[in-house]
Amino acid sequence: MKKKSQPLKSGEKILFIVFGVFFVLATIAYVGLETVRLNSDEPMFEQTTFFDFSEEGKKGSELYRKARCNSCHRALRSGTSMGLILDGIGSKRSVEWLEAFILNPEATYGHETLDHGPSPKEAAYAMKMPREDITRIAIFLSELKADPGSSVSKMPPPEHSVFIDSMVKMWAPAEWKEKYTDIRDRKPEEEAVNVEQEQIKSEGDLVNE
Ligand code: HEC
Repeated sequence: MKKKSQPLKSGEKILFIVFGVFFVLATIAYVGLETVRLNSDEPMFEQTTFFDFSEEGKKGSELYRKARCNSCHRALRSGTSMGLILDGIGSKRSVEWLEAFILNPEATYGHETLDHGPSPKEAAYAMKMPREDITRIAIFLSELKADPGSSVSKMPPPEHSVFIDSMVKMWAPAEWKEKYTDIRDRKPEEEAVNVEQEQIKSEGDLVNE
């Protein structure tokens, strides 16, 4: 005997309508966004990272690709976002730091890592690559730069923001004002000393391991 199909309950009807409306709106929004994006001459997102490779850097980029670092990392519009995005990393990390990290990830981070480090970690092969390949990859990565103010840059944008300045004035504890200075007001000599201190610190970490 054939069962007669039941009519939808009103709760089910509401559920279908809500999902249906949501689906239609999402489709319209997606098509609209893509149409605007494809027809606009301006990039939708400001490009804040750039590069200018030296000969060694170019060799490094080839090694980076061959070593399949982009199975986890994203750089130069290819790769995945399973690991960190490496575009602009050269404005945050020095070439010495990058080399030290690949050779000795946990000591350089100063804490446990997820994928880099001795096997069975998944990116264990990175520290076992020939030393000169590691150097070239580090040079390549150090040449991936970012504009000041980009989320991957160490430096904030050069111009002052009234909003941020007033927030700092209102909320930052008084002792911060003595402890920290605006990174943009530092003279190049002071910056050099800071970099040196950071390097000494990471070398110290390496010795301790
Ligand atoms: C299996 C995934 C994976 C692969 C493959 C991989 N990485 Fe990573 N990478 C990570 C993760 C995750 C981190 C964050 C540190 C951690 O937890 O290991 C990281 C961190 C880094 C960092 C430090 C970034 C920073 O600023 O803290 C560098 C540099 C780096 N990877 C370079 C490489 C290079 C070069 C290769 C190829 C030889 C590579 N990675 C392959 C997952 C991966």
